[in-house]
Amino acid sequence: MIFLSRWPLTYTYARGWRQGQAAVKRLALVSLAFCCYGGPRRSCNDRPQASDASSWHGRGCRRVSRDSRHPTPNELLGPFYPVRKPTDRDADLTHIAGRQGQATGQVLELSGRVLSTSGEPVPDARIEVWQANAAGRYRHPSDTTGLPLDPNFEGFCQIATDRTGGFKILTVKPGGYPGGRRGFRTPHIHFDITGRVERLVAQMYFPGEPTNATDQLLLANIDPPSVIAHELPPRADGVLRFGWDVVMRLG
Ligand SMILES: [Fe+2]
Repeated sequence: MIFLSRWPLTYTYARGWRQGQAAVKRLALVSLAFCCYGGPRRSCNDRPQASDASSWHGRGCRRVSRDSRHPTPNELLGPFYPVRKPTDRDADLTHIAGRQGQATGQVLELSGRVLSTSGEPVPDARIEVWQANAAGRYRHPSDTTGLPLDPNFEGFCQIATDRTGGFKILTVKPGGYPGGRRGFRTPHIHFDITGRVERLVAQMYFPGEPTNATDQLLLANIDPPSVIAHELPPRADGVLRFGWDVVMRLG
């Protein structure tokens, strides 16, 4: 009798328990599916923005943590890394110490920051910069193109980032040049950056250059948008301004 009188209550408890278990299972399955799915899909080509809650990393389209940045792709030094570096190592490539003249070509100011993938500035990083002159000629014995040299163009500078990772140089827009078996090289500037724990060699390109579309090295770059500078409003004196940030894995 006692068993029979408690049966409806026992049955109700058991039914509620099974329903609760089923609800927990459904919730667990939904949570698992969301974690595996990773939320709304985006293309691998979507470049992460600084404000993004997540970003997509490398060819594998791997999701990485909040605020992470793509490392700037590493490249070779190339054939025109200076064999003799000038003693004049300021941030102005348009003048050579002891000479009155100014380099020929469109003067431009390039500024940016050196950051780690976690967004931390890399202070006191050594930056070496070298490039062709406005006619596309390097001051280097391996440059046999016959293009004209510019006696007033420095072609190289060595600077250091400030405590915010910032840097700025004044130079002229480099010309493109015939790159041998690699074909015509679109205008670019070479960088060799030594941070606290690593070194990065990179090339920076200019936006809107028609020859960007055929440059074999730029096309072979694993992340072309990351090595193309962005144009900023020009200075009042007509000097063009470009911005480009460099991202090192650790800094
Ligand atoms: Fe070059």
